[in-house]
Amino acid sequence: MQKLFAIFCIGLLACSMTTVSARSCKALVIAGGADLGSYEAGVIQGLVQAYNELGQVSEVYWDVISGVSVGAITAVGLGQFPKEQTVEMANWVVNLWENISKSDVYSNYLGGVVQGFLFEESLFKTDPLRAFLKKNVTRKQTRKLVIGVTNANTGEYERYNESLSDADLIEAVMCSSAVPAFFPYQIFKGNTYFDGGVVRAADVFGAIDRCKELVDDVSQITVDVILVTSKTFEQDVPDDLKPIKVGTLSQKVKDHHNARRSLLEAYEAFPTINWRHIINPQTKLPDADFPFNFNHKQLLQMIDQGRNEGRAAVQQHTSYESSRNGNDETSNLSLSAKLAFMDAYEAVFDRYNISYNKTTSA
Ligand SMILES: *[C@@H]1O[C@H](CO)[C@@H](O)[C@H](O)[C@H]1NC(C)=O
Ligand SMILES: *[C@@H]1O[C@H](CO)[C@@H](O)[C@H](O)[C@H]1NC(C)=O
Ligand SMILES: *[C@@H]1O[C@H](CO)[C@@H](O)[C@H](O)[C@H]1NC(C)=O
Ligand SMILES: *[C@@H]1O[C@H](CO)[C@@H](O)[C@H](O)[C@H]1NC(C)=O
Ligand SMILES: *[C@@H]1O[C@H](CO)[C@@H](O)[C@H](O)[C@H]1NC(C)=O
Ligand SMILES: *[C@@H]1O[C@H](CO)[C@@H](O)[C@H](O)[C@H]1NC(C)=O
Repeated sequence: MQKLFAIFCIGLLACSMTTVSARSCKALVIAGGADLGSYEAGVIQGLVQAYNELGQVSEVYWDVISGVSVGAITAVGLGQFPKEQTVEMANWVVNLWENISKSDVYSNYLGGVVQGFLFEESLFKTDPLRAFLKKNVTRKQTRKLVIGVTNANTGEYERYNESLSDADLIEAVMCSSAVPAFFPYQIFKGNTYFDGGVVRAADVFGAIDRCKELVDDVSQITVDVILVTSKTFEQDVPDDLKPIKVGTLSQKVKDHHNARRSLLEAYEAFPTINWRHIINPQTKLPDADFPFNFNHKQLLQMIDQGRNEGRAAVQQHTSYESSRNGNDETSNLSLSAKLAFMDAYEAVFDRYNISYNKTTSA
């Protein structure tokens, strides 16, 4: 089939040249993090607003959206909007997060967490989330999707995509967001699934793989990544920590490392990708310690912080691009992306005691 196409193109001479130069792919990678998803919604709106004000809204016409856990919930929400409705899409996802409450996501068993702890597979039930998704995700997906899940039978990380039926897509998102012990594991297509975040807090490689379907060379790919852990892992650990909070804290430590590690691995594998925006909270988010509160006031604060940081990222990126004015031959990375990778290098390399040159990676 590919061969036939190539012959056809040679026949037309200019065919391959024109198709190659027009090709590009933009991907958005959204990490997991329960109600810190509100920060991510704010970042998305900040990016969209800032590019729209510059008259460049097509910069955020993402072709691929990759989400794990709460990122998967946001991904299927965003994916309902055609690219021309990107501004509406961003406003919609912020509206969703402004008004979401705990009761939209999970509920207690009749006997409360005690029943959950002793007799059920999880502390809470997520029937409300399924109903909430069915109400809010009603349109056909318009982008390539990556939904990350953890297969508890094989221990492997797996991906689902937009080819699923509407009903199955919601089930895949339920699997992706099934935080172990907290929320019930899910049986889907004959497998038992947990939250994709158990293995990968953010699926950068998944997004790149899907983008490769649209381009001839990875240098035609632009990647934006939204993470929810701050660049430094500052954590107050009170001495009266209860088991649930110990669980969420340990998950947060894992997320912090594995999001950065996967980013670093993807960068090392594909340095010529346009790593455009790597955004993570510049100051600790209000609900960072226990992100299952869905507290209205905190959600609004996190949306605001995300929006401001998304806007700032675009400003920083565009001022860096115009200051280097195409003259910088040394690297195609934006300044913000470079700084983010510096953090990634330091966190990962320090952890594994690998020597590195701070100056060369800057
Ligand atoms: C999502 O669904 C809930 C429950 O039906 C509804 O109250 C809410 O307005 C919906 N959100 C959006 C952004 O449409
Ligand atoms: C959603 O929240 C915003 C901000 O708090 C509020 O202005 C808006 O009226 C709410 N919408 C709904 C449908 O509750
Ligand atoms: C999309 O998902 C279907 C079914 O799960 C799978 O068969 C297919 O290979 C996937 N496509 C890609 C591009 O991963
Ligand atoms: C930067 O981009 C140019 C063309 O866009 C390419 O030739 C060059 O190899 C790239 N440099 C790096 C370090 O990726
Ligand atoms: C890290 O590497 C250095 C130099 O090889 C060594 O002296 C040091 O003991 C190592 N630290 C740890 C924690 O392994
Ligand atoms: C660090 O930089 C020095 C001088 O440029 C070089 O000799 C050395 O190999 C570098 N080390 C690493 C780990 O990259």
